[in-house]
Amino acid sequence: MNKYLAGIGFLCIGAWWGGCSSRPTEEPMATVVERGLERAVHQAQLMAEKLENQEGRLPKTLKDGELETSDYSWWCSGFFPGELWYLYEATGNPALKGYAEQYTQRLEPVKDITYSHDVGFMLNCSYGNGWRLTHNEAYREVMLQGARSLATRYNEKIGLIRSWDFNRQQWQYPVIIDNMMNLEFLLWAAREGKEPRYYEMAVSHADKTIRHHFRPDGSTWHVVSYDTLTGEPHVKQTHQGYADSSAWARGQAWALYGYTMMYRDTQRKDYLHQACKVARYLMGHPRMPEDKVPYWDFDDPKIPDIPRDASAAAIMASALIDLSRLADAEFGKQCLAFAEGQLRSLTSPAYLAEAGSNGRFVLMHSTGNLPGNSEVDVPLSYADYYYVEALVRWKKLQEEENKKNIHE
Ligand code: GLY
Repeated sequence: MNKYLAGIGFLCIGAWWGGCSSRPTEEPMATVVERGLERAVHQAQLMAEKLENQEGRLPKTLKDGELETSDYSWWCSGFFPGELWYLYEATGNPALKGYAEQYTQRLEPVKDITYSHDVGFMLNCSYGNGWRLTHNEAYREVMLQGARSLATRYNEKIGLIRSWDFNRQQWQYPVIIDNMMNLEFLLWAAREGKEPRYYEMAVSHADKTIRHHFRPDGSTWHVVSYDTLTGEPHVKQTHQGYADSSAWARGQAWALYGYTMMYRDTQRKDYLHQACKVARYLMGHPRMPEDKVPYWDFDDPKIPDIPRDASAAAIMASALIDLSRLADAEFGKQCLAFAEGQLRSLTSPAYLAEAGSNGRFVLMHSTGNLPGNSEVDVPLSYADYYYVEALVRWKKLQEEENKKNIHE
């Protein structure tokens, strides 16, 4: 058995003994979602208490069994505050709101970061969810300043936001597929700050990424670096995947989420088309495991004896639930069914931590950067964030459906 997932056999059965019948039936999806949310609340409360008096610290992962934290400047800083906002939204629990406010505040200096494209991830998940739920004017100001900082990384001639500043001897102007995730923040700032320039930047970035990042089968390169004189790609590589030509699982998930969100916020059909293409690639992939939680890279020749990436499954599930409302009805149903399969797996004992275990994180078995031998088969704050987002999105979708049914 794969050393990374003992217990998978149990999870795949997905059995649930309902009522008095001795025959196992499938646990209702609503029960799965409530169970996942309940566990997430429990773990998040423990985490919030643990770090409450550690000024400025935010959870990152487990290293050698110990909780590893970061300050505001790590790209993942916004995920825990964002998770707390979602859990507050799902429960209305004022204690969670208090923690969400407290941990969001820790990211305030992010607004002036100009050395990284991750400002969108950091501020949109934390302040963005806070703003959405409270309309706190101070949050809006931080976000608009953050958008000004992010916009300094846009190059008019190239038409893209620069991702990284390191490795300059190899990459003139690197853009990673993950960068699609920063565009939601820019689109928000375009609307809220009445800055059409930000809208144009986001659309240009998304258009050029369609042109240069994708392969004919719908999979994506990780890093595309552009020649600063011609504005054309000069190299296509990987940084966190198995090979330049491989499909690094989380990169594919970022692409799916990014184009789904871009369609939702702009209504441009080419983005919907791209999102559906990526979804088809992922859902139909011959090396997608039965439990729908991807291996860390679809092209690692050591499959199946390699780590999974629960974070990729959580990001995918959240994006597919969103896409299920936007795509045509038939494809939308397929997306939703796939996402539900992923949520069932993630909410099983194979991935969902026992209460009080797993360093207070919610999900087990994510992979951050295997080639860098960093964060392999561990909990990660973003796996938890997108898992909770997916659960909340599923609940909202059901509420919408129920309302529709009442009115029909
Ligand atoms: N954006 C970095 C990652 O997905 O690992």
